[in-house]
Amino acid sequence: MLRSVSVRAPRARIQEDAVIVPLFSGTRKLPPAAARVDRDLDGAAAALLAGEFTGRRGETRTATVRRARRLIHVVLAGLGARDAADPEALAAAVGAAARAIPGRAASAALLLDDAADGATAAQAADTLHAFVKGFALAHYSYSVTARRRAASLPRLVVVTSRSARSLAPAIRRSRLVADMIARVRDWANAPANLLTPSAFAEESRALCVSHGVVCRVWNRRDIEKARMGAVLGVAVGSREEPRFLVMQHNMEKPDLPLVCLVGKGVTFDSGGISIKPWEKMGEMKGDMAGGATVVATLAACAARRLPLRVVGLVPCVENMPGGGAFRPGDVIETCSGKTIEVLTTDAEGRLILADAVAHAHAHYKPDVIVDIATLTGGVLIALGTRIAGIVGTSEPHMRALEEAGRRAGERVWPLPLDDYFNAMMKGDISDFKNYGGRNASAITGGAMIGAFAQSTPWVHIDIAGTAWNDGDGPGYQSRGATGYGVDLLLRFLEGVAGAAA
Ligand code: BES
Ligand code: ZN
Ligand code: MN
Repeated sequence: MLRSVSVRAPRARIQEDAVIVPLFSGTRKLPPAAARVDRDLDGAAAALLAGEFTGRRGETRTATVRRARRLIHVVLAGLGARDAADPEALAAAVGAAARAIPGRAASAALLLDDAADGATAAQAADTLHAFVKGFALAHYSYSVTARRRAASLPRLVVVTSRSARSLAPAIRRSRLVADMIARVRDWANAPANLLTPSAFAEESRALCVSHGVVCRVWNRRDIEKARMGAVLGVAVGSREEPRFLVMQHNMEKPDLPLVCLVGKGVTFDSGGISIKPWEKMGEMKGDMAGGATVVATLAACAARRLPLRVVGLVPCVENMPGGGAFRPGDVIETCSGKTIEVLTTDAEGRLILADAVAHAHAHYKPDVIVDIATLTGGVLIALGTRIAGIVGTSEPHMRALEEAGRRAGERVWPLPLDDYFNAMMKGDISDFKNYGGRNASAITGGAMIGAFAQSTPWVHIDIAGTAWNDGDGPGYQSRGATGYGVDLLLRFLEGVAGAAA
């Protein structure tokens, strides 16, 4: 989405097609670097600031400066109140500004003017990360026909009094994260006839190979040998065979902490025999967003050489109502030996995740299992589309995820989980049933998955609300898949790696 990102001091002339000046609300006077650059722009930014601009979050004002052989677009970007600024707001503001540039800018200068405020180097890195993420992803769009052309990608120049060297690591990291978020969006936006379980698995393998992640793709025979009856049960209603992705980072280093990431990889969720109504069913091509997030996060971990071990497990299936499909009333046996009665074939995510989480616990005995899934409509009702719900058995890991979410601008909120909820998933003729009623469904869905982690600390992230965007915008969001979760999980893993060092 970006051709390049470079850093320049605010002394030289503006060579770019556009200049973005981010400003907090209530700003009366341009900060030093912006003021310096503005001298070269005939005071266009100051004039905009003196006009109607309030600095409200997401607000933009644009002016155009004529030069001998070209135009320079000046865009003021409102960041909202300084003390309410969070990474999501910063990214959204810069994303909105990027979209407010008229025409197709081949290059843009972006002012990072925080040194004057006494911001620390770490704060500058976080701000820059949000800026680059917002700018890069504002240029994302998905189309099956129009391939994105590398030649038309914009160059970004960060204009700042900070040294290029001090900002280089943050730039590298933010570009990687933006690229991986775009990957997740591409996969989740891809139509289910094009991205079948086997296609998703092969594309994931390719990303892993190019980033140095060890990846094995289990086929149906392998899944049968592992006795994953829940994965097989969901898969049999489709002509598409299931796959099970096993990805490994740093597994040759046994002294490092070990995290298992488990992602729901349903390439299409028709509901199966308990079929969904047709309206919006097409959005269920994105029901593998959690799995895509796990793949992209492993690639990012390897690219950053994070000092911890990570295993990624992604069961990939299509949930269809074919003649051989599993039915309501069926009882299936997971690889743990525990059985589940299927009350509705539409609660398929928790089934395949039960097998995957049981495998993570039995085979890897990790320090923590984190599963991420577009699991329930209930979480949309509870928290809406900007905050993901979490439940889990490990307070410290849940708190670490909350902190990672705040820093990444991808927030999570804890829901309560205790035996009251676990009891709602106890089976009548089997160990569990896969549906606990409409009440608290975002919690009970997670609760059943958690039972398969047994003694291993576990956290479940329900992204059914945050993974998909019905409309356009705001800021750096595009219609369809959001790519939510990569930045969150990478931050979380960086925390685990740091805590071990
Ligand atoms: N994939 C859906 C959940 C979903 C809903 C994701 C909306 C994105 C947007 C999941 O498999 C599902 O069907 N959940 C049902 C479960 C219910 C039948 C127990 C739900 O939450 O409605
Ligand atoms: Zn589903
Ligand atoms: Mn479903």
